Amino acid sequence: MAEIRSLEKKSCLSGSGLTKVFGFGNQKTVAVDHVDFNFYEGEVVSIVGESGSGKTTLAKMLLGLISSTEGEIYFQGKKLDIRTQRKKREYWKNIQAIFQDPFSSYNIFNKIDSVLLDCIHMRGGRKFSHAKKVELMIEACSFVNLKFEELTNKYPFELSGGQMQRLMIARIFLLKPQVLLADEPTSMIDASSRATILDYLTKLSKETGMTTIFITHDIGLAYYVSDTVYIMERGKFVESGSADAVILTPKEPYTQRLINDVPKIYEAWDLSTV
Ligand SMILES: Nc1ncnc2c1ncn2[C@@H]1O[C@H](COP(=O)(O)OP(=O)(O)OP(=O)(O)O)[C@@H](O)[C@H]1O
Ligand SMILES: [Mg+2]
Repeated sequence: MAEIRSLEKKSCLSGSGLTKVFGFGNQKTVAVDHVDFNFYEGEVVSIVGESGSGKTTLAKMLLGLISSTEGEIYFQGKKLDIRTQRKKREYWKNIQAIFQDPFSSYNIFNKIDSVLLDCIHMRGGRKFSHAKKVELMIEACSFVNLKFEELTNKYPFELSGGQMQRLMIARIFLLKPQVLLADEPTSMIDASSRATILDYLTKLSKETGMTTIFITHDIGLAYYVSDTVYIMERGKFVESGSADAVILTPKEPYTQRLINDVPKIYEAWDLSTV
């Protein structure tokens, strides 16, 4: 019985009827319109939709950065209550985000060592010996193929865009959140480093049981990285399911259109052999 239970997928983050309306009257925008979802532990999920479909708005509600107009969010099966600043801070220990611009993620006046040390301290490692902290920083850097000794004493603006993206993942490695929300994390870098970054993130998800939510308008990318795909159109989830089911046998015309818009380059991934 215990074994059976351990095989069951555990819900990490779910929502019911989640809605966000901006403005009033004529100015009203229903950015997210009664969405239901269930993201499981250790799962890589993609939310795919065109510009303006409500992806970032949904992400902001999940992060507790904006309030919902209607509906509920459940974290690890419990209704999310982040009405006080203290509860919000408690919740933020479990959820991390990567946004479009890696430069915005860092305080440019902090050296890389202190960026990484902060993560160790946030995870309760303040009392670790200096040697232990260095060991953890080396481990985190080598997870993303960075050499800690080359970064030490540098500032984030002294890194290349690709190195900065990898440093961002090294931070996630140290923070070990239960949920990672990545809103177009790789838009700034070339295709091959992009694939590498995505591979690191999916590997981290599988190794630590972290739930990773990718937000993108690129259905090819979603197919490449995810277990589960949600398709978003004008604030609604119009189709969801396993990446194979949604992308190889799409039911909705909107999904079919997104697939047809994918540039030919993705044919190299050969969707037919699955
Ligand atoms: N603070 C706000 N006030 C008013 N309207 C907003 C606000 N934020 C977003 N919107 C509107 O909500 C809708 C959804 O926006 P959102 O940013 O969630 O889209 P998105 O799917 O993330 O798009 P993109 O792919 O371009 O990032 C849009 O019509 C947008 O104009
Ligand atoms: Mg967005």
